[in-house]
Amino acid sequence: MLLEKTIVESIRQRFSCRKYLEEPIALEKRQNLEAFIANLPKGPFGAQASFALVAANESDHNALKDLGTYGFIQGATGFIVGTTSDDGKNLEDYGYQMEQIILYATALGLGTCWLGGTFSRSSFARKINASDQAQIPAVVSIGEISNVAQARNGLLRRQIKADQRLAWEQLFFERAFGVPLSQEAAGAYALPLEMLRIGPSASNKQPWRVLREGTAWHFYLQRTKGYRVGSLNRFLQIADIQRLDMGIAICHFDLSARELGLSGNWVMAEPRLKLPDELTEYSVSWIENTGV
Ligand SMILES: Cc1cc2nc3c(=O)[nH]c(=O)nc-3n(C[C@H](O)[C@H](O)[C@H](O)COP(=O)(O)O)c2cc1C
Repeated sequence: MLLEKTIVESIRQRFSCRKYLEEPIALEKRQNLEAFIANLPKGPFGAQASFALVAANESDHNALKDLGTYGFIQGATGFIVGTTSDDGKNLEDYGYQMEQIILYATALGLGTCWLGGTFSRSSFARKINASDQAQIPAVVSIGEISNVAQARNGLLRRQIKADQRLAWEQLFFERAFGVPLSQEAAGAYALPLEMLRIGPSASNKQPWRVLREGTAWHFYLQRTKGYRVGSLNRFLQIADIQRLDMGIAICHFDLSARELGLSGNWVMAEPRLKLPDELTEYSVSWIENTGV
C-alpha cells in the first residue's frame, strides 16, 4: 500500500511509545504491515535476515517484565521479531531493516518501541519457530497508541531526556574530527543529516558521527564506555547494541537522501584519519553519485 506520509514526516513523527491500547492492531493495518515485511528490501550490506509480526500473549507480557534493563512497556499487542545471520555487518543491516518497518508502522499511525535489553530470546524464538540458536538482536513492541500526547510525555521519556539530541557540531565534521560541519555547508545533505540526528538510539546515547570529505560521507561509531560487548554480554547473547544504532542512522540518512533525489552508494572506503579516541571506529561511507 502506498502511504501518504513521506519518510521525513514519519521520522519526525516517530517516538518510543511505551503505552498502548489493549485492543489488537486494526486488521487492515496489520495486513499492510505484513505485506510490507514480506517484501522488505535488504539492508545496504545484504545480510540475511527475516522479520515477522507476532501477536502478544500473556507470556510475552511476562517476558517483557523480565526485561530487567530499563523501560516499561504497557499493553503492547504485538511485536516485530527478527533473526539474522552471524556475520559481517549483520547488526547494522538488522537495525536498518527493522527501522524501515518502524517508519512504515509510524506512517500507519502505530506506536513502536525498540527493545534491546535482556528480553527472553528463547521465548521470542519459539514464537517465530526459530531455533534457540537463532540470533535475535532486538525486538520491537508495536500497537495502537493509547494517547499520543500522554505517550510522548511519559515518565521514562522525560527521565532519559528522549526528546534531546546532541548538537550538530558534536556529531558532524568536515575533513577532520573537531572541525564542525555547519548546516549551511552541508547543503542538500543538511536534511538527511538532521533526520539521522533525530533518530532513536539505545539509552539515547547517539553514538554515530559523520565526517565529510568532498563527495564522501564517512560514518563512524563512537562507542559509549560500558556499552562495549563484553564476555558477559556474549554469554547472555546480548547483541552489540550500538551497531544497531548505527544501522538505524544509516537508514534515516539513506531513505531521506533518496527521497530528496540524492543518490549514492554505501562502500567501505575508510580514510586515513586521526580518530578522536579508542572508542571510535569506522563503519561505512556514502559516496555521492554526482552523475559525472
Ligand atoms: C537499539 C535500541 C534499543 C533500545 N532498547 C530499549 C529498551 O530495552 N527499553 C526501552 O524502554 N527503550 C529502548 N530503546 C528506546 C530508546 O530509549 C529511545 O529510542 C531513546 O531514548 C530516544 O527516544 P525516542 O525513541 O522516543 O526518540 C531502544 C532504542 C534502540 C535504538
